[in-house]
Amino acid sequence: MNTKLRIRRPDDWHLHLRDREMLAAVAPWSAGLGRAIIMPNLVPPVVTGAEAAAYRDRILAALPENVTLRPLMTLYLTEATDPADVLAAHAQGIIAAVKLYPAGATTNSASGVRDFDRVRPVLEAMAGAGIPLCVHGEVTDPAVDIFDREAVFIDRVLEPIRRATPGLRVVMEHVTTADGVAYVRSGDNIGATITTHHLVINRNHILVGGIRPHYYCLPVAKRESHRLALVEAATSGDPRFFTGTDSAPHPDRAKESACGCAGCFTAPNWLQICAHVFEQAGALDRLEGFTSLHGAAFYGLDPNPDHISLVRRDEPARWPERITAGGETVTVFDPGFPVHWHIEDDA
Ligand code: DOR
Ligand code: ZN
Repeated sequence: MNTKLRIRRPDDWHLHLRDREMLAAVAPWSAGLGRAIIMPNLVPPVVTGAEAAAYRDRILAALPENVTLRPLMTLYLTEATDPADVLAAHAQGIIAAVKLYPAGATTNSASGVRDFDRVRPVLEAMAGAGIPLCVHGEVTDPAVDIFDREAVFIDRVLEPIRRATPGLRVVMEHVTTADGVAYVRSGDNIGATITTHHLVINRNHILVGGIRPHYYCLPVAKRESHRLALVEAATSGDPRFFTGTDSAPHPDRAKESACGCAGCFTAPNWLQICAHVFEQAGALDRLEGFTSLHGAAFYGLDPNPDHISLVRRDEPARWPERITAGGETVTVFDPGFPVHWHIEDDA
């Protein structure tokens, strides 16, 4: 039997589109979104309003004609970021948010923040103007176990920042733990994105039976109890939780390596997989909130005016195992189970 679910066009509140050949290869896979928050961790990073405007123009040039995607740009916060530039870029509609990477926490984060006191003036300006801070929430202290880095970040960094900056709107990006879920639920002016891959994999998927580099991302997937907490949060209908795929393409050569880099490329199939997760949880009626309503509300935007449909069919949905970008291949995320949800564009 076919089941059809009509929802407002989804948005993605955390997306890596990269640049140059990779941008050209991956942008069409996100073209059917409404809006997407575009991550600024290019090499070199997108630090100023002028750089964000130029990157936005490169994205628009890489998209096919007549697409729905509207890129919402972010700035990469550094210890040298000028509060006046952030305020001007926001006032001119160039940026929607600022991204905080602790230096060394993840891909291309070397220019991130080491001393959080040095970004206080920017954070205060952002709180005053209502500009959200998107946070990669992991400490980089080598003494902290990688599976504990999110929970420790909350205590050591995030809570002190939020206490010192009343009114600062924070998105805890790609939350991966029950601790993160509980923290987001305990406060005001805070939301969280949840990725599709963290809804379906735990750390066993990465490590049992051999190392599976295409399941390696940061923050790294945690134990099953944390995955279940994420599914509960996503499917609960709580508006503080919304879609941020963190679709993060890398060439296979860079992932299938003795030092493979972090990121799962989910742009081609994240929505179909999300529908599967919500169906399994008996929460299909809450899918639209997670994919299409809660994030927009957090960012103070209306939902997209148009709709798409998700149709459940007996035959599984298909997507390529890998795509090509320049001379490289990029593997698409494999959920490890058949997904029967297909997307139909109602526009
Ligand atoms: O897995 C990840 N990949 N996590 C991040 O925080 C960055 C991203 C990337 O840019 O590749
Ligand atoms: Zn990311």
